[in-house]
Amino acid sequence: MKAAFFREHGPVEVLEYAELPDPVPGPGEALVRVRAVALNHLDLHVRRGLPGLKLQLPHIGGSDIAGEVAALGEGITGWEPGDRVVVNPSVGCGQCEWCVMGEESMCVRFRIIGEHMPGGTAEYVTVPAANLYKIPADYPFEQAAAAPLVFATAWRALITQGRLRAGESVLIVGAGGGVATAAIQIARLAGAKVFAASRSREKLERARELGADELLDSGEDFSREIWMRTGKRGVDVVLENVGAVTWERSLRSLGRGGRLVTYGATTGPQVPIDVRQVFWKQYSISGSTMSNRHEFATVMRLVFWERRIQPVVDRVLPLSEIREAHRLLESAEQFGKVVLTP
Ligand SMILES: NC(=O)c1ccc[n+]([C@@H]2O[C@H](COP(=O)([O-])OP(=O)(O)OC[C@H]3O[C@@H](n4cnc5c(N)ncnc54)[C@H](OP(=O)(O)O)[C@@H]3O)[C@@H](O)[C@H]2O)c1
Ligand SMILES: [Zn+2]
Repeated sequence: MKAAFFREHGPVEVLEYAELPDPVPGPGEALVRVRAVALNHLDLHVRRGLPGLKLQLPHIGGSDIAGEVAALGEGITGWEPGDRVVVNPSVGCGQCEWCVMGEESMCVRFRIIGEHMPGGTAEYVTVPAANLYKIPADYPFEQAAAAPLVFATAWRALITQGRLRAGESVLIVGAGGGVATAAIQIARLAGAKVFAASRSREKLERARELGADELLDSGEDFSREIWMRTGKRGVDVVLENVGAVTWERSLRSLGRGGRLVTYGATTGPQVPIDVRQVFWKQYSISGSTMSNRHEFATVMRLVFWERRIQPVVDRVLPLSEIREAHRLLESAEQFGKVVLTP
């Protein structure tokens, strides 16, 4: 099959587009004919290399897969070749204390398709059949591929970990990002007032179309601006993923009793915390990673079957343009998701 992959970690130039052997589904697995695959910032982190991440090379990335079931391994019922699906990228061991609790993304052997396992930047991929999610016959694959990882991540971060409720306010930083464009819509659906911060005026206008109420320049002191626009109150929840560059301003944007949820470190992982600020204003700081199955199914239903929230596709490129796709994300030129078609 044709695939996009790398044989060693490094810059965009390590990416290749060439032939690799077709994968064969093992017991409990499905072979998916990939029709579209969306990139995530994760693909850049994995390509560059992450501490402790040992990959089997060559590595095929791509966590957001939409396609058709092509074949089934032993022991699978309920699926037929030709079924249209997206794939839940979170894979738990099913046996540890956290999996037993239903918390796959806290699994001690947690894996992500496209990171710890071969992903979907290829014509075919094998995935656990338990991770398949059926999509409607008329839902375009290019749109569908832009949904799974970002909506699942945004749902858990905002609704589960952030406990966002109707009538509250939330700040979403890096508004043009994939997860952020999902989060703006979920926050809006939850009945919250949405503050969106981006470095780009144009992206802020698009964030407004998605439901953002207040637009902020993330190159400026947006915490001061929030302070003024909220009558010196601050917001209830901050969704932080930009990391080192925005952290201090994000934390300062919280009102008393506010909750900051972090799920990313795009600009670096080391951040300062003044504990006096945390205890005096009684902040909560929590982390969030991917989702459990229940959160995944809930948010996918809202995307695919109720159509109350929509994946945001910046552009669709042929898979052979894998380097250009990585470059777009690296330079944050995109708004929403970059999708590739094999
Ligand atoms: N824990 C998890 O489960 C999980 C899941 C998904 C993603 N993540 C992490 O979350 C982060 C975002 O992921 P994504 O896929 O949504 O990324 P993305 O689509 O590449 O978006 C990242 C956004 O961050 C903003 N940004 C980047 N550099 C910045 C800078 N120097 N200053 C201010 N803003 C900057 C940009 O927003 P503007 O262009 O609007 O300024 C950019 O669009 C990544 O680090 C990713 O690894 C974690
Ligand atoms: Zn487990």
